[in-house]
Amino acid sequence: MLFIRVLKRPIEMMDWLYLIFLFMLTWFVIALIMIVLGDCDLLLQIAEKFGKSPSSLKNKVVWITGSSSGIGECLAYELSKVGCKLILSARRKDELERVRGQCIEKWGVKADDILVVPLDMVEFDTHAAAVEKVINKFGQVDILVNNAGRSQRAEWIKTSLEVDQQVLNVNVLGVLSLTKLVLPYMIKRNEGHIVNMSSIAGKIGTFTIQFSNDG
Ligand SMILES: NC(=O)c1ccc[n+]([C@@H]2O[C@H](COP(=O)([O-])OP(=O)(O)OC[C@H]3O[C@@H](n4cnc5c(N)ncnc54)[C@H](OP(=O)(O)O)[C@@H]3O)[C@@H](O)[C@H]2O)c1
Repeated sequence: MLFIRVLKRPIEMMDWLYLIFLFMLTWFVIALIMIVLGDCDLLLQIAEKFGKSPSSLKNKVVWITGSSSGIGECLAYELSKVGCKLILSARRKDELERVRGQCIEKWGVKADDILVVPLDMVEFDTHAAAVEKVINKFGQVDILVNNAGRSQRAEWIKTSLEVDQQVLNVNVLGVLSLTKLVLPYMIKRNEGHIVNMSSIAGKIGTFTIQFSNDG
C-alpha cells in the first residue's frame, strides 16, 4: 500500500518488473553471502535450517564405509549422539575398534548397537559375506553411507593408468558392488537411503597452472 501511495498512480507493468528484479537481486545477494560465509553449499544450509533434525535418525541402522578416519569417523560420532545403530567398515580393524570404543565411551552407544565389519572396497568377492553379517545382526540397513574412498591429486596426464584403475575400483566399482548387495534389502522393505560421498571436484573441475621455460 505504501508503495502505491508513494507512486500516487496505479501500479504499472514496469513497477512489477522492477519489484521482481529487486526481489531477485536481494535473494542473490543473500545467497552469495551465505555461500561465502557457509561451510557447505546453499541447499545443504537451507536443509540444515529448515529440514528434519538429526534426532529423527534415532534407532536407524547406518552403515558407514571408510569410518576408520576423517569424515566417516566424525559421522560415526555425530550419529552416535542421536542414537543410531552403527556398522563401521574400512580396512584397518584396529582403527575401527578405536572409533567404536569412542562411540561407546563418549557418546553412550550400547556395545550391542555398534558392529565393526572390516572390509576392503576392492575385494568385491568379500562384500556378500559382509552384507550377510550385517543383516544377521540388525536385520536391515536404513542408510548406507558410501564414504570410503581415496583421492588422486597428481596431474592426471602424468598419472599412470594403473593408478586410475585403483582409484576407480575403490571410488566407483567398490561403491557399485556394495550398493548392489544392500539395495535388495531396502527394496524389500520399500525403505532406505543411500548416501554417496562426493567432492566439490565432482561439480567444479580444478585447474592447474603450468609454468614453462619454452620459447
Ligand atoms: N576431506 C576432503 O576434503 C574430501 C574432499 C573431497 C572428497 N572427499 C571424499 O570423502 C571421503 C572421506 O574422505 P576423508 O577426507 O575422510 O579421507 P580419509 O580420512 O582418508 O578417509 C578415507 C576412508 O576410506 C577408507 N578406505 C580407503 N580405501 C579403502 C578401501 N580400499 N576399502 C575400504 N575402505 C577404504 C579409509 O580406511 P582404511 O585405510 O582403514 O581402509 C578411511 O576410513 C572419501 O571418499 C574422499 O574421497 C573428501
